[in-house]
Amino acid sequence: MKNILTGDRPTGSLHIGHFFGSLKKRVEMQYDYNTYIIIADVQALTDNFENPQKVRDNVRELAIDYLSVGIDPSHSCIFIQSMIPQIAELTVLYSNLVSVSRLYRNPTTKAEVAQKKKLFGESGESITYGFLGYPVSQAADLTAFDCEICPVGDDQLPHLEQAREIARKFNHIYGETLKEPEAVLSKMPRIKGLDGNEKMGKSLGNAIYLKDDEETITKKVMAAVTDPSKVKKDDPANPDICMVYYYHKLFNEENIETVCKECKNGHRGCVQCKKELAERIIEFLKPIHEKRKYYESHLEEVDKILMEGTKKAQEKASEVMARVRKNMKIDYFDDAKK
Ligand code: TRP
Repeated sequence: MKNILTGDRPTGSLHIGHFFGSLKKRVEMQYDYNTYIIIADVQALTDNFENPQKVRDNVRELAIDYLSVGIDPSHSCIFIQSMIPQIAELTVLYSNLVSVSRLYRNPTTKAEVAQKKKLFGESGESITYGFLGYPVSQAADLTAFDCEICPVGDDQLPHLEQAREIARKFNHIYGETLKEPEAVLSKMPRIKGLDGNEKMGKSLGNAIYLKDDEETITKKVMAAVTDPSKVKKDDPANPDICMVYYYHKLFNEENIETVCKECKNGHRGCVQCKKELAERIIEFLKPIHEKRKYYESHLEEVDKILMEGTKKAQEKASEVMARVRKNMKIDYFDDAKK
């Protein structure tokens, strides 16, 4: 079985954009691959180093999100990045294999640099060594587990490319040691926000979280953007510019033709249409909420899953690390141990 590695930064709860964009695929793939799921707390700290409690609280939160959507700990190894010292070691060793200008050219990093400069000043004082180097650390995440396949969103493609370059360069200099991870994109296009924004995101305030309760979901759906030309309940409207219709396509596939027809001919009021959608989303999230409730009342079980996953991950990473040390000729004292 091939190895998969993927994961998230523990900075907040996951939303339905994450579900369709990556979680669904992870759940499906976990039965056919050796799956590692990294809770990237070190990477989260690059932007939150002054707020360690936030990162810490979100580690367990993220684990509960994973478990509640069906990531199965008997098939997937969920672990905490900072507890794998080999990742930190590899990051240092790889730092010689990538130039600073290459790091600045990474499109995802570049956009983040621009954002930071806009927020904190053009001098670039806010761009830390750790921030610029997080793709190197991500290369360590991937290669420490012999990851061959990495299911991620398109914003991660530059990091994957960078990891492949590092692995190739390493193998070229020190001999065949590392696997080159290959990105697999989720087939679903990125799902839009209820406000019509191209992206659903925490910072955009337009997300429906997997843990949102019925009332919150209904409130969010009721505020969704519809065809502005429709004023009265029985005005005909254009579903193609309506976010409610867009979401019906995701959550109410079997009735989609009726929804479309009734919207176009004015037989469907927006309030009713939104209520129906909210019900569908609530229905969809029901099993996820049930699982979450279970884990929230069995936190010791969540901690045990994290501990066991981390232990298994440590074993795998130390195996890869031994190979790296040997080929880089830094495998001191190994003979003495025998
Ligand atoms: N960079 C990813 C994100 O921001 C998180 C991440 C860290 C990751 N290490 C990884 C994803 C390794 C895939 C593989 O969401």
